[in-house]
Amino acid sequence: MPVKRKAAAEPAEEFDSLEDLNAAIAAMKPLVPGATQAVLGEGPEGAAIAFVGEQPGDQEDRQGRPFVGPAGLLLDRAMKDAGIDRHRVYVTNAVKHFKFEQRGKRRIHQKPTAGEVRHYRWWLQKELDFVDPAIVVALGATAVLALAGKAIPIMRSRGESVFDGRRGYITVHPSALLRIPEEEGRQQAYEDFVADMKRVRALSRQSKTA
Ligand code: URA
Repeated sequence: MPVKRKAAAEPAEEFDSLEDLNAAIAAMKPLVPGATQAVLGEGPEGAAIAFVGEQPGDQEDRQGRPFVGPAGLLLDRAMKDAGIDRHRVYVTNAVKHFKFEQRGKRRIHQKPTAGEVRHYRWWLQKELDFVDPAIVVALGATAVLALAGKAIPIMRSRGESVFDGRRGYITVHPSALLRIPEEEGRQQAYEDFVADMKRVRALSRQSKTA
């Protein structure tokens, strides 16, 4: 489903700063009830690289920070191997609340629908306007949907892209690497992911310093 239409959650008020925008996001009710809190983007305004994931997971929902669970640890490792300092980049999600299905004590991640992605799209765009990165990296299909406003097959479009006039880059979501069952395939996928990170770092340096 295309997501270019006006975001369902577009507010009437104007925001003068990322802080004000984040305060409004933090006060938003989750579209699908259940999340503990909104998980805001993290990192400096003016960062050369912004990474956009799908939505917070279980750990992110508990800790209130993006990419701090298993996928986040893998992302951290790949950034480090590519010479990217996580503290100098901006990390956020297309959808700001964790959606899950409760199974016993476990909260099982549920993929956001296109409508849910559209609901948060205006907020993500505004957030990126404030951060103004040299390059924005879509981690996986949901981030691509949010940034491009339409579904794009990841594997065929992996690499440089443009999202609404913003320099972009499409790669896989780190959790996809965690799901590869055999070691050899997982290792190869990890190396490809690090190669993407190195490319992103090089591209970001063409106009800003990462
Ligand atoms: N997956 C995401 O897409 N975002 C997070 O913050 C954590 C896991």
